[in-house]
Amino acid sequence: MNIQINNLTKIYPKGNKKALNAVNITIPEGIFGLIGRNGAGKTTLMRILATVMNASEGEITFDGKELNANKDEFRSSLGYLPQTTKLMPQLNIVEFLDYICVMKNIKDKAQRRERVAWAIETVGLVGEEKKRLHNYSGGMLRRAGIAQALIGDPRVLIIDEPTTGLDPEERLYFLNLLSKIAVGRTIIFSTHITADIEHLCQNICVLEQGEVKYLGMKRAFIDRVEGKIWEHTGTPAEEEQLRRNGIVTSVTYVEGSPRVRYVADTPLLDNSVAATPTLEDAYIYALGGVKR
Ligand SMILES: Nc1ncnc2c1ncn2[C@@H]1O[C@H](COP(=O)(O)OP(=O)(O)OP(=O)(O)O)[C@@H](O)[C@H]1O
Ligand SMILES: [Mg+2]
Repeated sequence: MNIQINNLTKIYPKGNKKALNAVNITIPEGIFGLIGRNGAGKTTLMRILATVMNASEGEITFDGKELNANKDEFRSSLGYLPQTTKLMPQLNIVEFLDYICVMKNIKDKAQRRERVAWAIETVGLVGEEKKRLHNYSGGMLRRAGIAQALIGDPRVLIIDEPTTGLDPEERLYFLNLLSKIAVGRTIIFSTHITADIEHLCQNICVLEQGEVKYLGMKRAFIDRVEGKIWEHTGTPAEEEQLRRNGIVTSVTYVEGSPRVRYVADTPLLDNSVAATPTLEDAYIYALGGVKR
């Protein structure tokens, strides 16, 4: 499913906060990565897309149809995993998913049983059916959340910062799960970690303070800094100089000396060496450098 977001603006009445400012985004099929720092507007955008909140201005279309005029149709092909959810802690996964099926108006018991088993299998929770959800780990809960979002076999999945708080192993499992379920669907996935989208998405959107900083292919985004990334290991004074004159994308310390990665058309100091750009470099560059 193709989703088109046109001139979307959201102003929260509280504090008159403009969380989205005339945003235009085209979302093709496949996994679409929405990346941005805290407060960028990711959740705001996802809540509007998931039809749980209205925009102040602008419109969204799916497959050419206006969303607000076709809400029921859109909702029936939508799965949503909010950034924070309380899944019913006293239930086990089977009871929980059966309840979701009932909410989705799947009346036939056998059909519900089949859907629930399929979802549990898909997210890798076979063998964990008897535990109550309050005994699940963070990673298992996130998988249960995906199972919930998947239950109606939606064509569109909206997943808001699912990797936050997961340990590295669970995170990898989760990212693999997303690529597995992406076939034939549109998955909109938000994060503030570039590593999450490094291998997962072809198309990305960088949001910052409610505005689109980049929209398009991930590869083209990285290419914007091709030939412009340098690494310099030197003194703290040189680090200062680079911070003043270039865009610093990271500083690591090698035996006590700062190793500064920066963006500039030509090297700013002798002994700076060219480096291969990463998604992280391109991202920090798009945001104007690392925060101190
Ligand atoms: N209900 C609300 N009332 C007023 N302002 C809000 C409300 N919800 C969010 N905001 C503000 O809108 C902006 C965007 O918030 P949003 O939650 O969409 O960002 P985000 O990119 O999801 O951030 P995070 O990475 O922290 O989840 C922020 O400045 C936030 O403080
Ligand atoms: Mg958020």
